[in-house]
Amino acid sequence: MSQIPLSGFTLGEHRIDPPLVLAPMAGITDLPFRRICRRFGIGLTVTEMIASRAVEQGRERTERMAELDADESPVSIQIAGSDSKFVVEAAHWAVERGADFVDINMGCPVKKICKQVAGSAMLKDEVLVAKTIRAVVEAVDIPVTLKIRTGWDGKSKNVARIAKIAEDEGIQMLTVHGRTRAQMFNGHADWEDIGLAKDAVAIPVIGNGDVVDGESALEMLRVSGCDGVMVGRAVQGNPWVLAEVHAAIMGLDKPAAPTAQERWAVVQEHMQHLAAHHGVQFASKMARKHVGWYSKGLRDSAEFRGYFQRLDDWQTQLKVAEDYFLGLDAALPLAA
Ligand SMILES: Cc1cc2nc3c(=O)[nH]c(=O)nc-3n(C[C@H](O)[C@H](O)[C@H](O)COP(=O)(O)O)c2cc1C
Repeated sequence: MSQIPLSGFTLGEHRIDPPLVLAPMAGITDLPFRRICRRFGIGLTVTEMIASRAVEQGRERTERMAELDADESPVSIQIAGSDSKFVVEAAHWAVERGADFVDINMGCPVKKICKQVAGSAMLKDEVLVAKTIRAVVEAVDIPVTLKIRTGWDGKSKNVARIAKIAEDEGIQMLTVHGRTRAQMFNGHADWEDIGLAKDAVAIPVIGNGDVVDGESALEMLRVSGCDGVMVGRAVQGNPWVLAEVHAAIMGLDKPAAPTAQERWAVVQEHMQHLAAHHGVQFASKMARKHVGWYSKGLRDSAEFRGYFQRLDDWQTQLKVAEDYFLGLDAALPLAA
């Protein structure tokens, strides 16, 4: 049983306090999104996954994925790959870009990644897990962390063994998404399996999977006994959920839901950051996704989304979104 309020922990030169982490999500947790989320009480941000081969190819898009705010700390850059040479190069690259920690991804279930025996496919090969971690830990002077699933499939769950290997090879913090690769995103995350990792090691363990509000965060902590919480999908269009989870793990009262004005202020700022970071053309594509999420559960949201998704001009999108969000009743509840 985790003790509430959670006390946080030290990772290298940094405190992870509160131990509330924004989940890395490819195509979502770019700099604009993390900038918005940071004000809602998180203790650590992580970039989206960056494939070590992409680093080697030196694309501009890869550089943009690793761009950090000057005051964004503590922050991890997440890398993926199984060829130690490329993974080590990517780790050095992450350090040069200002990461406080390098996070290795061994949880990604995507076929293209698994085919290269990276992401969650690595969990099938414990020798490869150890070798990859060792290479990165030896290569960089900053803490190396790891994110895993509970195994490849139900028959080969090895979460406790992987946790122990990780600790023995020098991993300083472990995040466990309580699903196997075979489960993809189906069913419910198994928080007891996260507890198996927690029981196997002395390093901090962050629990992840299906935390959607303060109550589920506390239940995940109760079942797993782990040291912190990572939240992903529930934050899409609803960064306020982070404030709610933060309050829960710190033993504080649930914060009030945002007013329509507050919601619009965040949407507008998010859209502006997207344009500044990606340029208006790509920002407009990203806005369709994010603004659609922000409207979820609100009045006339299906009609709004249907209309908004067809707009491809960022300025027009901004105006249409303003009219929609400011036209809402200030007393509307948070998205479900
Ligand atoms: C669209 C999407 C992209 C994701 N990208 C990454 C990623 O780049 N790296 C990673 O470690 N996990 C990634 N994940 C997994 C999340 O970090 C997290 O483990 C998972 O969504 C379960 O947590 P949740 O139930 O709070 O969403 C991604 C998940 C989603 C939905």
